[in-house]
Amino acid sequence: MLAKTVVTVKNINHYFGQDELKKQILFDINLEINTGEIVIMMGPSGSGKTTLLTLIGGLRSVQEGSLKVFGQELNGASQDKIVEIRRDIGYIFQAHNLLKFLTAWQNVQTSLELHPDIPPEEFRPKAEAMLKAVGLEHRVNYYPDNLSGGQKQKVAIARALVSHPKLILADEPTAALDSKSGRDVVELMQQLAREQGCPILVVTHDNRILNIADRIVRMEDGRLATDTTAVTS
Ligand SMILES: Nc1ncnc2c1ncn2[C@@H]1O[C@H](COP(=O)(O)OP(=O)(O)O)[C@@H](O)[C@H]1O
Ligand SMILES: [Mg+2]
Repeated sequence: MLAKTVVTVKNINHYFGQDELKKQILFDINLEINTGEIVIMMGPSGSGKTTLLTLIGGLRSVQEGSLKVFGQELNGASQDKIVEIRRDIGYIFQAHNLLKFLTAWQNVQTSLELHPDIPPEEFRPKAEAMLKAVGLEHRVNYYPDNLSGGQKQKVAIARALVSHPKLILADEPTAALDSKSGRDVVELMQQLAREQGCPILVVTHDNRILNIADRIVRMEDGRLATDTTAVTS
């Protein structure tokens, strides 16, 4: 596959708070993510991983530096532009954020509803096919309360992948899962992402999944250590 840059982070600084409470959280972050790559980000709690992920995902405004996603600059971009970019990003968070009053397939559908080019009659078949792909064909009509932690996380993955995102951002996706479901969930992300040719940036503390990474980067005190290259095995 041609290496194509999907994310370019250049000299990003980020601060929380104002005036005398203003505190720098990210320091001169540089990172590139290419098509088809799985990049794992590790680092201690509080080091700035989620902040960087939400910046890349267009969920937080860029303050200093340049951040390009799909070739488009997020720093100073209009709200419309950011909404458009977000549509092509699949988000998988630790707290899966499923809507309790929607069934599994309806939760998956919410991500299709953001795409005006997908005809509404295709929502349900597409949602059900994606749930089947994650092994939940027997749970399409279940509400989140009646699903296990691993099943809920799989619904969240189906929701992130159903609209064929061009980038997947996952923040500790296995943290709440036992090791078997954790492994399942990661293999699923890997497989579906590879099939769709889409890069993944995963924040994790989970040593068991490191061998799926093409690259591991490490955040410490708001600084990203130089890329450590490919883990083989
Ligand atoms: N909304 C916020 N307001 C103020 N400080 C924040 C906010 N979000 C995160 N922080 C602080 O920024 C630092 C990095 O947080 P975070 O990016 O969540 O780290 P990580 O995901 O690596 O645990 C922490 O010190 C955290 O307390
Ligand atoms: Mg975090």
